[in-house]
Amino acid sequence: MSYAIAHLSRSALLHNFQRVKASTSAKVVAVIKANAYGHGVLEAAEVLQEAEVFAVARLQEAIELRAQWPDKPILLLEGVSDIEAWQCCGEHHFDAVVHCQDQILQLAQAVMVAPIAVWLKVDTGMHRLGFPLGQTEHAIEQLSSLPCIKSVKLMTHFCCADDVASPMTGQQLLVFNGIPFEGECSMANSAAILSRPDASKQWVRPGIMLYGSSPFTGKSGPDDDLQAVMTLHTKLISIQSLAKGDAVGYSGTYVCPEDMKIGVAAVGYADGYPRHAPSGTPVMVDGNLAALVGRVSMDMITIDLRQVPNAVVGSVVELWGSNLSADLVADAAGTIAYDLFCGVTPRVPKIWGD
Ligand SMILES: Cc1ncc(COP(=O)(O)O)c(C=O)c1O
Repeated sequence: MSYAIAHLSRSALLHNFQRVKASTSAKVVAVIKANAYGHGVLEAAEVLQEAEVFAVARLQEAIELRAQWPDKPILLLEGVSDIEAWQCCGEHHFDAVVHCQDQILQLAQAVMVAPIAVWLKVDTGMHRLGFPLGQTEHAIEQLSSLPCIKSVKLMTHFCCADDVASPMTGQQLLVFNGIPFEGECSMANSAAILSRPDASKQWVRPGIMLYGSSPFTGKSGPDDDLQAVMTLHTKLISIQSLAKGDAVGYSGTYVCPEDMKIGVAAVGYADGYPRHAPSGTPVMVDGNLAALVGRVSMDMITIDLRQVPNAVVGSVVELWGSNLSADLVADAAGTIAYDLFCGVTPRVPKIWGD
């Protein structure tokens, strides 16, 4: 087929999970929200089944997982925000993050069929979700006194762990370590797992590293011995022989600096290839590094073939994956690999293999 296809590697996912296990002795919450960062949640869960907990963001995702995993702890990373949804958490025995007073009030009114485990989120500096430090002890007391709560763990989220030079991570650690709490705790996302062993606590929460991309600005997955799980590829469907001065694609943003061949590949923003990727964004053609030129269209991109003289119609084009890190493509396109993975659209077949 000459359209975009995503190949997903079970062995790469398992390798990356083992990379987590080699970095820490903490228990693992595998973050498989957003359809496992665009990879396919049910298939990813199967490979990651040794993780003690699966974490998702939406109730619907948790319910879908529960159908396949009747006994697995499943954590809702933002909890839920109405009484009915809390009752649903009780029915499906979901763990849930509690990050604000409104949620405690809802829990106090909910009629739960079974008590649930909650992870109380403290705002240690990210200022997005979480109890302010001054309200944390009271929130712990409130939750511990509710009959619908069977246990309370403490967690926080790092805002700048992707930047190892940032003082924020150390500051957040100090704040968190100062909270008087006897129970189990969780702080570390992928970046902290790889760079801050002191943040491991009892539970770690890896996301992007499981999928093989680097959590660090300016690095790519292989730098940290991570393997790409998703390889997105397509084929050349046409080759144009153009003359010096010819303009390529919408708005003619790329003008050929010399007589040259331009390959047309069957992938575009309707597949999730980033429309804002500029000329120069790396692509691979038959295993050779080449560059995107001109505007990304809905179903096509255009590629400078000067470095790939033997390319033909049907040549394989890798947009990102095992030979070209998504981190490099994301960097060129001014985004992050998380965004590329989540952006792959439903029309792209996802094929899992070993
Ligand atoms: C609360 C929480 N923990 C862990 C993660 C995983 O982060 P990462 O993918 O950077 O490892 C996320 C992802 O957004 C998150 O929201």
